[in-house]
Amino acid sequence: MSLLKSLFGPKQAKVVEVAPFGVSFEMESNQTLLEAALKAGIPYPHNCTVGTCGSCKSKLKHGRVNALSDFGYTLSQQEIAAGYILACQAIPKDPLTRVTVEPLVSDAPAPEKYTGKIAATESLTHDILKVTIELDRPIRFVAGQYANLRTPGMERERNYSFADSPEREGRKTINFFIRKIPGGAFTEALFDGKVSDASLEIEGPFGHFYLRPNASPMVCIAGGSGLAPLLSLLEHAKHTRVKRPCMMLFGARTQADLYMVDQIQAIADGWADRFVFLPVLSHEPADSSWTGARGLVTQFITDALPGINWKTAEGYMCGPPGMIDAGISSMTEQGMSLESIHYDKFTDASHSSKMP
Ligand SMILES: Cc1cc2nc3c(=O)[nH]c(=O)nc-3n(C[C@H](O)[C@H](O)[C@H](O)COP(=O)(O)OP(=O)(O)OC[C@H]3O[C@@H](n4cnc5c(N)ncnc54)[C@H](O)[C@@H]3O)c2cc1C
Ligand code: FES
Repeated sequence: MSLLKSLFGPKQAKVVEVAPFGVSFEMESNQTLLEAALKAGIPYPHNCTVGTCGSCKSKLKHGRVNALSDFGYTLSQQEIAAGYILACQAIPKDPLTRVTVEPLVSDAPAPEKYTGKIAATESLTHDILKVTIELDRPIRFVAGQYANLRTPGMERERNYSFADSPEREGRKTINFFIRKIPGGAFTEALFDGKVSDASLEIEGPFGHFYLRPNASPMVCIAGGSGLAPLLSLLEHAKHTRVKRPCMMLFGARTQADLYMVDQIQAIADGWADRFVFLPVLSHEPADSSWTGARGLVTQFITDALPGINWKTAEGYMCGPPGMIDAGISSMTEQGMSLESIHYDKFTDASHSSKMP
């Protein structure tokens, strides 16, 4: 009887409750959690809507969801095991779903659209370009955030992190560090000089990667062009006299892939507390002149700040997905909580099942 009732009786509405906003709303069939939340007028954090940026990361407290695409490229195994989901890829299955999501940083300006032109480029390494863009008007952002960039004819935007520390009145000239991705539509064109005259559309700021107010030690890891948001964050923290122990690990393949080392050292020299800077090379020839650390950058997490309390320490990471996943494993193994690990994974289209 109950089976017949469930097959032919009135359909039970699916309700979603979102904790920090203290709201609940009803789902329409086949809507994602994000779509329904936005339709209900909730300022749910999001950006890409295709499961690659991680902005809509939420913790499932009650109920089950179907995933439109594998959460595993954007979220770590530890996060998935702890119940994290991507709201833009989640379709609630049960009558009641409860989620919590970290609201947007309170002093982050609302995203706006800007136009810009490339004013200069500079090779930082053989595959990382510093791209200077002159905007039509100043943009304000929080250190660590990123912008969306699009050229005419580009069917979807790309995300790039601000490499500079923010200025109160905004920045009209901004810099990105952009790594060439083999087979990548935008970066190949950029490195071939094909977008130098294009009129760029920039939208931002976006993102949850910013320094939380805290006095506990911070463990930072950058890989490749992932140095950009960490430079922004650390430069700003130095400037505002943030006083907390900091370890900065910079992972690169060889000496030729290291860049901005003097700038990181200058931040270390002006830091208000203990600062350990450790570049780590994974593919440096054994017989080279390099006397520094060798191996995977995430193997050195435990080394440089002896005696820290991992339960209260915070992690800040940016760079390739594999490095972030390994970093989350190492940090949580030491006792750091997932809630204290903040990162931007530089995902690309290679794992996205559905592109706009
Ligand atoms: C929050 C965030 C911040 C970021 N910040 C930076 C930054 O500061 N600096 C930086 O260098 N990068 C950053 N990125 C990455 C950046 O946004 C781009 O993804 C990257 O530059 C690649 O762009 P592309 O157009 O060259 O490559 P794409 O054209 O997107 O291709 C990337 C790869 O996917 C493959 N591919 C493309 N389409 C498909 C498909 N349908 N199926 C399978 N494979 C496919 C391509 O062959 C290529 O190997 C960031 C990403 C995120 C999410
Ligand atoms: S909005 Fe969900 S991952 Fe980007």
